[in-house]
Amino acid sequence: MTLQKQQPGARADLDDRTPARPAPDPQAFKARARDQWDRSARGWNEHTPQIRAWLRAATDAMLEMAGVRPGARVLDVAAGAGDQTLDIARRVGPTGQVLATDLSPQILALAQSNADREGLRNVTTLVADGEALPIEPGSFDSAICRLGLMLFPEPGRALRELQRALRPGGGICVMVFGRPERNPCVTTLMATALKHAGLPAPDPSQPGSLLSLGRPGRLDELFRQAGFHDVATTTVDAPFRLPSARHYVDFVRSSASPIQQILGRLEPDAAQAAWQDIEARLARFQAGDAWIGPNELLLTAARR
Ligand SMILES: C[S@@+](CC[C@H](N)C(=O)[O-])C[C@H]1O[C@@H](n2cnc3c(N)ncnc32)[C@H](O)[C@@H]1O
Repeated sequence: MTLQKQQPGARADLDDRTPARPAPDPQAFKARARDQWDRSARGWNEHTPQIRAWLRAATDAMLEMAGVRPGARVLDVAAGAGDQTLDIARRVGPTGQVLATDLSPQILALAQSNADREGLRNVTTLVADGEALPIEPGSFDSAICRLGLMLFPEPGRALRELQRALRPGGGICVMVFGRPERNPCVTTLMATALKHAGLPAPDPSQPGSLLSLGRPGRLDELFRQAGFHDVATTTVDAPFRLPSARHYVDFVRSSASPIQQILGRLEPDAAQAAWQDIEARLARFQAGDAWIGPNELLLTAARR
């Protein structure tokens, strides 16, 4: 993993200075996302070892930047099956607490059972939309959101909720996918899936899409608008290493809900053809007996 700090005050590219279009209907969008993540919950959970290997170093950096320390009360938004929740629980120890929240009851139930299995009694869960958190103001020392915020139709609203949930001086760090040109696996997945579904080419800035917060400066601007201070973004190179493109496609097929939302509307034969096309296009990242999918992440940290 390579970390690269961006200049403070880095601006969004020209195209992104104008606010991105809002998702057509945020409530309907979130209802569909919840159903899809309920269906993908088991697949995401079963791929925890691969996700963990991919995100381990970036997750450690994220928790450090958010100030997750022994005894801290930590809010984990869009916690999924809880891989990073369990890391937080171990870091804060028995005198600290972590509240894992997610829109999908099915995936969050897995986070709770994973914590129970590890004997981590300082984990609690709450099914909640990250854009409307039923949480006492100022009740957390730190907050994180790992690979969730870019999927929200109104991420600025979620950041205001996170700002409200933190105590003054509390730390936050959010991980999202970075620039489209540095995430060719994601752009290949999206473009190929949309083409097979007969839909228009992807608009990476569309709210709720995988790369919607990837332009440098965009997330910093949203943080500042939400009232955060000391906003800084670090760019992280985090390639996905697997034996082959087939392994990556297997992971995406069983767990990556945004792609399934597109291909789920096709007849089985047409969907199968789309997956084969995706695999063929991703085979360009095979290097001998390893497949190394380039991937850039952004870690944006700030204080309330
Ligand atoms: C890519 S997964 C990441 C899960 C986990 N943070 C991880 O890194 O393993 C995205 C998660 O965001 C959740 N999510 C999507 N929209 C949400 C919303 N509006 N509020 C809360 N969670 C949401 C999904 O249910 C899903 O669990």
